[in-house]
Amino acid sequence: MTSPRTTGRTPATRSLATRLAALATGALTAVALFTAAAPAAHAADAPLRDLAAAKGKVIGTAVTGSRLTGTYGDIAGTQFSSLTPGNAMKWGSVEPTQGTFNWSEADQIVAFARAHGQQVRGHTLVWHSQNPSWLTNGTWTAAQLSTLLQNHITTEVSRYRGQVASWDVVNEPFNEDGTYRSDLWYDNLGPSYIAQALTWARAADPDAKLYINDYNVEGVGAKSDALYNLVKSLKAQGVPIDGVGLQAHLILGQVPATLQQNIQRFADLGVDVSVTELDVRMQLPATAAKLTQQAADYKAVFAACVAVSRCAGVTVWGFTDSDSWIPDVFSGYGAATPYDENYAPKPAYGAIAEALGGGGTTTPPTGACTASYEVVSAWNNGFTGQVRISCSGAALSSWKATWTYGAGQRITQAWNAACTQSGTAVSCANAGYNGTVPDGGSVTFGFNASWSGSNPVPVVTLG
Ligand code: G3I
Repeated sequence: MTSPRTTGRTPATRSLATRLAALATGALTAVALFTAAAPAAHAADAPLRDLAAAKGKVIGTAVTGSRLTGTYGDIAGTQFSSLTPGNAMKWGSVEPTQGTFNWSEADQIVAFARAHGQQVRGHTLVWHSQNPSWLTNGTWTAAQLSTLLQNHITTEVSRYRGQVASWDVVNEPFNEDGTYRSDLWYDNLGPSYIAQALTWARAADPDAKLYINDYNVEGVGAKSDALYNLVKSLKAQGVPIDGVGLQAHLILGQVPATLQQNIQRFADLGVDVSVTELDVRMQLPATAAKLTQQAADYKAVFAACVAVSRCAGVTVWGFTDSDSWIPDVFSGYGAATPYDENYAPKPAYGAIAEALGGGGTTTPPTGACTASYEVVSAWNNGFTGQVRISCSGAALSSWKATWTYGAGQRITQAWNAACTQSGTAVSCANAGYNGTVPDGGSVTFGFNASWSGSNPVPVVTLG
């Protein structure tokens, strides 16, 4: 039995009552997390979605459907007013085999959004990536390809008619120099695939806002000039185009100086602008100085959107560092979202609140080292546990994790720590080689133990 991903992280931000309730369940897979230093406190402010609404803005996050329970679901449902399926609505996800559809994750996210009074941002209908292999490996005439695309757009947009507020209809059509990207669509259909896709989407849901979305178009430059000229020309031709999406996958300290000016020029063309995939990546480890810079970067992006009335809002591409694409793609980089892997809000969270007019009562996050306890696997009378000690904005040169086993559990073997048990009291100290936990780093140790009857999760204290 392996613990599900969502139960691996209990936030420092959960209420004591919630924690106690979790402990009382004795769930084998639950995790206790308590902090050694002052935790990064959650803002006492209104949720971000309320602050954004007061400014007439939407605040969104990309989500993974399977994680929309527990703390991940709590935060996604309470802090954000819009959800974007990170992968679930892409062609490769919804039609992995030609004619065989899998809407389960997309439906789940749409239902979650409805239950939480949230908008959905549909993502994405025409893209060069994450297409099904039957499509990309097939041999098609231009007419066949065009029909396939029309059917795909019509099927998906119709299914969610009235439930998706905005669609990223066309995703990433440009190269960095502003020429069209060579891909399945452009190479076979020419640039007219963009106008056709928008027209088909409009026919399938006349009320959804239709966007073209791209990256590295946040500031004024060759690529955003190309997007600008395309939107201008589409509008002149009467093609339905309602907005442009600036993805904003940014690097620490590199918010383009022309961001607001760029948003404004698109607004002046008569389209909405949304920041659709914001994250700010940094080279790991995440130090206090880097997190402070990241907060300034998040604040600058939100402030630019607040300053332009036709900027509809900002969506972050994952709200927790445990659900970010960055470490998988940019080796050595991460910590790109407003919450850390344990769901503690980072300085960026407070900065977003401030940019949205809150922040007066936000407790500035302070550094903390935390210990999370997880039952990795269990069998009839034994189990394997793991404790992870993580530091953010703080560091340790030695550590000791202690807890009480109230249901008769007994440690039988430990690794990467020296563990002793006296009665119900367990104490695990670092081994000679892993006492140091740097700011932004973590260490783990594991153990086998016996249990019978129940195996409630203990409260771990770091000393
Ligand atoms: O679902 C499979 C799983 O079965 C398999 O075990 C696992 C092994 O690697 O891969 C899983 O698929 C991954 C998928 O995300 C779901 O997690 C793919 O490998 C991975 O490539 C894919 O990455 C996504 C990426 O788009 C693909 O380009 C990211 O999650 C997603 O956040 C990212 O989002 C894009 C936007 O759509 C467009 N703009 C850029 C942005 C970042 O790349």
